[in-house]
Amino acid sequence: MKKILALLALFSSLTSGISADVTLTVSADKPTRKVSPMLYGLMTEEINHCYDGGLYAELVHNRAFLDDPKTPKYWAVVKSGDSAATITLDPSQPLNENIPTSLRFDVTSATPSAPGEFANEGYWGIPVKPSTQYKASFYAKASTGFSGPVTIAIIDNDGSTVYAKAQVSSLSTNWQNYSLTLKTKSKITTTTKARLVISVQHPGTVWFGLVSLFPPTWNNQPNGFRKDLMQLLVDLKPAFLRLPGGNYLEGDTIETRFPWKKTLGPIDQRPGHQGPWGYRSTDGLGLLEFLEWCEDMKAEPVLAVFAGYALKGGLVKAGPDLEPFVQEALEEIEYVTGSADTKWGAQRVKDGHPKPFTLHYVEIGNEDWFDRKKTYDARFAQFNNAIKKKYPELKCISSVGNEQPADLRVHSSTPDVLDEHYYRNADAFIKDSPGHFDKYNRHGPEIFVGEWAAHETSFPPWDAKSAALPPTPNMKAALGDAVWMAAMERNSDFVTMQCYAPLFVNVNDRQWRPDLIGYDALRSFGAPSYYAFRMFSRNVGDTILKADLSESNLVQGTVTRDSKSGIIYMKLVNLQSAAQPVKIEIKGVRSVGHTAEVETLAADPSDTNSMDAPEKVIPVKGKIEKVKPAFTYTLAPNSITVLKLRGK
Ligand code: AHR
Repeated sequence: MKKILALLALFSSLTSGISADVTLTVSADKPTRKVSPMLYGLMTEEINHCYDGGLYAELVHNRAFLDDPKTPKYWAVVKSGDSAATITLDPSQPLNENIPTSLRFDVTSATPSAPGEFANEGYWGIPVKPSTQYKASFYAKASTGFSGPVTIAIIDNDGSTVYAKAQVSSLSTNWQNYSLTLKTKSKITTTTKARLVISVQHPGTVWFGLVSLFPPTWNNQPNGFRKDLMQLLVDLKPAFLRLPGGNYLEGDTIETRFPWKKTLGPIDQRPGHQGPWGYRSTDGLGLLEFLEWCEDMKAEPVLAVFAGYALKGGLVKAGPDLEPFVQEALEEIEYVTGSADTKWGAQRVKDGHPKPFTLHYVEIGNEDWFDRKKTYDARFAQFNNAIKKKYPELKCISSVGNEQPADLRVHSSTPDVLDEHYYRNADAFIKDSPGHFDKYNRHGPEIFVGEWAAHETSFPPWDAKSAALPPTPNMKAALGDAVWMAAMERNSDFVTMQCYAPLFVNVNDRQWRPDLIGYDALRSFGAPSYYAFRMFSRNVGDTILKADLSESNLVQGTVTRDSKSGIIYMKLVNLQSAAQPVKIEIKGVRSVGHTAEVETLAADPSDTNSMDAPEKVIPVKGKIEKVKPAFTYTLAPNSITVLKLRGK
């Protein structure tokens, strides 16, 4: 496929003198407006196993035994020879006050050759790689008379291959934490068909708490992130991360909103909470980890605070009832930005991050247009006033944008920023993108397109029919994404931030499609939309140039220039299944560099990437020579093209 794309790129080479149907006139002498430096960012929340079973590298599923109050879900006894054992939840032996249960392992028959064993299945398998060190840890205490040893091992599902193991030689009758290193050999085959197995060689009772297993993480950070997924994100060069949601911020109920305070400190003190997408979150990726994630990507947090509305309708009235939630938000901001002499700044220092984080934007709630009692106007005002009083430099984002009916929007004050969400069919984006932002007041609030994605289907992402489709969208959707990004970039003097959603999907369990990046326990891939986003976010100048395209039904695009280097970035989307010559004229330059760089993403509209074909649709890079201020470039069929040339 790569070869076919390379040929296509060659075919789409520079041609001179063709009379093209489509013309692009760029006025390099008429820089219109500034591109927002915050334009390209990411949106995140716990959905589709984004964190647990995704970015957060923990491999043990239900490590604190709190996922189900009745049964130790994802754990099972392993029968070996004549051994006999049971596992049960035992709230009468809690690990501590925050993790109010443990796993009781009763072994009535076990020998060194037929040990008592139980296992964790991981998040759709434990990923096993050669020459890899895993960090295992667990709490344990034994009944009187049982002193060990306890073995912890990564073993294939049928029990025939032990990939790595380590042993604790003795236990006591009090809770103690044990940390071990498991190392795989060099000559093993990579697999996910493995489990984490804990075993004892003698009868007795042992209680376990918080059993954890981490592979090597991004920058070797403890409690850290999966390396391949972080690399995919860093490659996007995001300027910000909108956190922690989405619906995940709100929770189904007020009680299950994102509990930021309970997500701080040692992981053995984090109870986790029920998320709105059908499963419980460990909160191993808590508020500090979100902020460190931003730091790792050199991105800024865009912090969303709970604003008194939960998904199933739970509502806190503006006024005295709402005040504790406003205080909670102020404390959260203090945790992020405060110095060591503030209460919550000191807590962040204690948690291991002395330096305050940079924060410019705070979002009040999420999609509050669902509050049909129309109380958002008053709730927003209460948060906005309190935040502005203590942090006048912060910009407050209303979660209700111009795309919602006027009576649901904030009207008694003017928010600094409006968050708008667009989940649309690719054709709807293609039709609307040329003129969508023309009707906006350029001097009104900034626009943050905080969630958007094109789908290729006639039904929306939340329709049950989505379940039958691949988790990531196809090239047709990527074309829709590209024209929409071009529209946002052309207007990025006031569309200051945008982020695709959702970001991640574990292909084994999803609640939503389309998604940008797919993965299982071992492998990962970007959708065509991922590459479209990468081409846009990595190829942008600081100034929007006036650029007139003659036929927006055939080709759409955006042109910017970097004022320091003089590089002109043209991003063009050919919406047809035929190659399209574009007659390009750059006015206001004396000359252009002889050579231009080209990057092309082209494929059949129905093509996509998958776990087994992760690079079916990827961009191809090339060069064109003899570039002049007026030249014709032929765009490949169904393609997104970046032309990078130097104007003088
Ligand atoms: O991106 C998925 C969901 O869509 C978000 O959680 C929510 O804000 C929106 O409705």
